[in-house]
Amino acid sequence: MKLPFKTLDEVEYEGKRVLIRVDINCSLDPETKEIINDSRIRAMTPTLEELKKSRVVLMAHQGRPGSNDFTSLKPHTEILRKLGYNASFVDDIFGEKAKEAIKKVKVGEILVLQNVRMFEGEMKKAPVDEVAQEPIVQELYPLFDLFVNDAFGAAHRSQASIVGFTKYLPSVAGRVMEKEVRTLTEILSTEYHPWVLVLGGSKVPDKVKIIERLLEIGRADNVLLGGLIGNLFLIAAGKIPDDYGTPIKEFEEILPLAKELLKKYSDVIMLPIDASVEEEEDRVECSLDDIAGRPFFDIGPNTAEEFSNIIRNARVAFANGPMGFFEKDAFKHGTVEVLKAIADCECITVVGGGHVSAMAEAMDLVSKITHISTGGGATMGFMTGEKLPLVEALEDAAKRMK
Ligand code: 3PG
Repeated sequence: MKLPFKTLDEVEYEGKRVLIRVDINCSLDPETKEIINDSRIRAMTPTLEELKKSRVVLMAHQGRPGSNDFTSLKPHTEILRKLGYNASFVDDIFGEKAKEAIKKVKVGEILVLQNVRMFEGEMKKAPVDEVAQEPIVQELYPLFDLFVNDAFGAAHRSQASIVGFTKYLPSVAGRVMEKEVRTLTEILSTEYHPWVLVLGGSKVPDKVKIIERLLEIGRADNVLLGGLIGNLFLIAAGKIPDDYGTPIKEFEEILPLAKELLKKYSDVIMLPIDASVEEEEDRVECSLDDIAGRPFFDIGPNTAEEFSNIIRNARVAFANGPMGFFEKDAFKHGTVEVLKAIADCECITVVGGGHVSAMAEAMDLVSKITHISTGGGATMGFMTGEKLPLVEALEDAAKRMK
């Protein structure tokens, strides 16, 4: 398959100063903030292996301002060291401290810069030409010979560190990016049905738009919803009180679209039919009518069974986001059952998003799933046929490199 961008196969990188943008956004323990799953770090090691004779600087994000997983990349650097890489960390992104450290990187060494989202301008989403003017790009690009983008998980974000450097540096895809685009393109070229989408977790506004697009293009035959996105649609259906929308970002703005989608696709969108709520730190299973203001932390057992049956009969099943507050053991059940059904399914299965992928790995199900994607929103965007900003930027860079 011909890729629309250049890869590491097409450039010289030995001895060169290489800036790599990776997506090593990891699941953290909500209390200790320790990394609980380092699969995204391990996933990008094939790229690091190939660049062992280069002078490598890594750029990445962890969480986003305001989220409880918004932290430093120092622990990520420790993991790289444990994996055998000669990695060091600098608590700076593009200031003098970072620039000095970058200049000192030797062949075989890896310097990890601080979380790029600690720079406010990184959160701006705009076309390449605009974000390329951000100081993070302007200050850093002259220090490098090559830009390698391996951040497939963030490919749907047109932000400075993702697309800005492609304007100034020869730019190619790393091995994660390459593998994701190849595999997902192959999977999407099949016309199998039923095509089942299982969505949970947060990042609700993004996910509602993805559901809208996938339904509009007729790709999904069933959309099974849990987690906060499930709550939004339950509120839209009038099945649980509006108060359950409080933790949902942009709740008021996104609710009308959820209502409209429910009306239009009532036979396709499947909502939880029962709940697991928390009471005095215990899991209590109940009907939706009975939740009585208690935290709704997981889909109920009847929902898990219904969803599992639909998944087992699918020809393509794609899952993204947990069905509940899986970080708490008592509320893992829904996500565990969905993953077991996906692993049992004799069909094409794709699991995306850090949380569910991490859980599939912990449950030892990886070999039973067709593709574990390192992307969440990026993978879903790709599946709707959306041209991802990163893919577009790498394509343009490839044309300039000819
Ligand atoms: C992800 O975890 O999906 C990626 O790292 C992108 O993160 P974001 O949704 O915060 O941009």
